Amino acid sequence: MSSDPTVLPIGYSLHGYRIDSVLGRGGFGITYRVVDTRRNCYFALKELMPSEMVARVGGSGVVPLGAAKQEEWNWARQRFVEEADMLSSFRHPAIVRVHEVFEKHGTVYMLMDYVDGDSYDGYLKKIGRETDQEAVLRVLIPLLNGVEEVHAKGLIHRDIKPENILIDPKGNPILIDFGSARSHLGGGGGMTSIVTHGYSPIEQYQSEGNAGPWTDIYALGAVAYRAIRGERPLVSTERVLEDRYDRLEGKRLAGFHPSFLREIDRALALHPKGRPQSVREWKILGGQRGGQGVAVQVAVAREKTGGEGLAGSAVWSMILFEEEVVSMLRAGKLSPRDYVLTEGMVEWSQLGEVFHC
Ligand SMILES: Nc1ncnc2c1ncn2[C@@H]1O[C@H](COP(=O)(O)OP(=O)(O)O)[C@@H](O)[C@H]1O
Ligand SMILES: [Mg+2]
Repeated sequence: MSSDPTVLPIGYSLHGYRIDSVLGRGGFGITYRVVDTRRNCYFALKELMPSEMVARVGGSGVVPLGAAKQEEWNWARQRFVEEADMLSSFRHPAIVRVHEVFEKHGTVYMLMDYVDGDSYDGYLKKIGRETDQEAVLRVLIPLLNGVEEVHAKGLIHRDIKPENILIDPKGNPILIDFGSARSHLGGGGGMTSIVTHGYSPIEQYQSEGNAGPWTDIYALGAVAYRAIRGERPLVSTERVLEDRYDRLEGKRLAGFHPSFLREIDRALALHPKGRPQSVREWKILGGQRGGQGVAVQVAVAREKTGGEGLAGSAVWSMILFEEEVVSMLRAGKLSPRDYVLTEGMVEWSQLGEVFHC
């Protein structure tokens, strides 16, 4: 068993939770799996521990690295509490559920649902790449819906990447690691901004970079790119002098519609102004500009085996581009009775409820 003095020891109890294992540690904190000793179930507990500001003393206490760091540390704790409070108000299946924030040992802890599953990164490493659009959308759509809510509250995640997307046992994506989320209203703050090569847009490499919803949209585009190509897009700083971004559109990738690929390219525009400015705009996509590529707007539900009606029969569902639906209708592969058109996008989980997927 690990006796690393910088993490809380396995078996240690705090606030009614017993440390069971260390799930991960990064520049901002340490995430533990803990057991709720009353209910005997797991949670994930994140401990704020920015290594450049604080150190552990005496096994559990956390103290700033000298008086010079005190002010910055106070600020960091306050931001962590505010963000955790904000997150705990979210009830979205694609955003990790935060239950509680508490202060102890001189630092702050955030208690979350434990997601028993691999990260999307781990999953993609195993499969290489997704082979069709539907598989990518199954991850992308719930995330878009969740991130739209995050943005509506004035937060930007700023570190969306496959490692920060967990896939639950039912295959649903859950976004974690809001440690770097900052209010874009007011901005500022002393914590070092973080970047992840391939997923962070160019503005995150600039100290005065103007982050906004378009920052997360770039990262989501990069996640989709990685899923489609099996590798992340060219690092944004490598694109500044000469943009050799390898566009998806025009690649004739089997299983992917050109309009969909074009929208992923658009999210990955180097210049923030070249990207969709909001998740809502991206969802509506090209649809209002000449009827091109209304991605993921249409939910289709159809009986798997004919004849018995929707009730009681196995139903499958998928998300298509409007133009694909039109061409399927024309080709007689779909009848108008088969599908349900939706305003905006539908969450996969909602579809599941309605249609018993
Ligand atoms: N709610 C959770 N359920 C299960 N595992 C989690 C959860 N939150 C974090 N983890 C695991 O811990 C790792 C680190 O957590 P994360 O919040 O991403 O912090 P950081 O990347 O800053 O260390 C994640 O990559 C994941 O493997
Ligand atoms: Mg992380």
